[in-house]
Amino acid sequence: MSDNVVNLRQVTKKFGSLTAVNNADLEIERGELITLLGPSGCGKTTTLRMIAGFETPTEGVVELNGNDVSDVPPYERDIGMVFQYFALFPHMTVADNIAFGLKMKGVDQSEIDDRIEEVLEMVSLPEVGDRYPENLSGGQQQRIALARSLVVEPDVLLLDEPLSSLDKKLREEMRMEIMRLHRELNVTMVYVTHNQTEALAISDRMAVMNDGEIRQVGAPTEVYQEPAGEFVADFIGSANLVDGTITSNTDSYEIATELDVDITAGPDTSVHDGNLEDGNSVTILLRPERLSLQSGSGNGTNTLSGTLREVTYLGSSAEYFVELADGTEVQVTSPVRGTIDVSPGDEVTVSFDPDAPILLGDQ
Ligand SMILES: Nc1ncnc2c1ncn2[C@@H]1O[C@H](COP(=O)(O)OP(=O)(O)O)[C@@H](O)[C@H]1O
Ligand SMILES: [Mg+2]
Repeated sequence: MSDNVVNLRQVTKKFGSLTAVNNADLEIERGELITLLGPSGCGKTTTLRMIAGFETPTEGVVELNGNDVSDVPPYERDIGMVFQYFALFPHMTVADNIAFGLKMKGVDQSEIDDRIEEVLEMVSLPEVGDRYPENLSGGQQQRIALARSLVVEPDVLLLDEPLSSLDKKLREEMRMEIMRLHRELNVTMVYVTHNQTEALAISDRMAVMNDGEIRQVGAPTEVYQEPAGEFVADFIGSANLVDGTITSNTDSYEIATELDVDITAGPDTSVHDGNLEDGNSVTILLRPERLSLQSGSGNGTNTLSGTLREVTYLGSSAEYFVELADGTEVQVTSPVRGTIDVSPGDEVTVSFDPDAPILLGDQ
């Protein structure tokens, strides 16, 4: 038997004529923290709600622990859920909020008391059992929501944008807290976010979604370094994208581009399984941090000349925006230490090694 906690098998969800999730396949391994990442409206919440049982797939099957759960209602699924907005019962104390799920399960009172104490300790709020939710800060309420869903020891914990109603500092604190709980409890987590930085930081693996479809599933480094296509390349990190056509593929790829410049890309730069042939179109991804900037104009392979339009200092790095002769904008990111002395309006040259491009292929 596979050790997957959740399997989505060709799952589609339609609301009338709108397809919210389209033919999604996803296998979630026991103990992992997987994020569903994508822009607003791409189907993340709907996917989560189908796992929880609040929505029924129009087509396809959801399996929990290897069993088709089509006929299993939400309260009989071994699942915890944390929402974007605090969903604590306002008229109950923190302790009663946490006890709710355990009472439903018929756990006896002395064990409930022990478990409440333990779980409050776990979320670093040991003293608040007798308080009411309105007397807690937003961050504390979200910790209690976490405690309430963890106390029943669910097979899988679903989190739907749990940090998005918190301010930046709290968001980072809670993110660390969730990562710590994941590490210590080893509970499988499915974490929905539209925030790529959050997803890159927190995930064992991420499933990148767009338009109801899962576009790529992989570890953060894999998705960043070998994006499956233009959408993923652009959504995760910053991307300069250039269209081109392969003109030769002997030792390395020679590519004629829409810019007035030929690009040489090393033999291992294609993310495709098969070989790229002469005449194939490709999209070339140039990550800003793989490009370097010099003052003055230059020419040659993998060299782009243009005018510096803007510099943004970000503390440890700086972003340079260069406009090429045809109007294309190229972004270059460099560490601030060792930056060169250039100002907006100056002629500059952008260059890169043959192993810097990533060839995304025709799509
Ligand atoms: N109950 C519903 N009825 C009709 N349309 C819905 C319903 N729930 C979600 N949708 C639509 O399905 C699409 C995906 O929504 P959702 O899963 O909430 O996206 P996300 O969580 O990624 O922002 C959106 O176009 C949304 O408007
Ligand atoms: Mg949502």
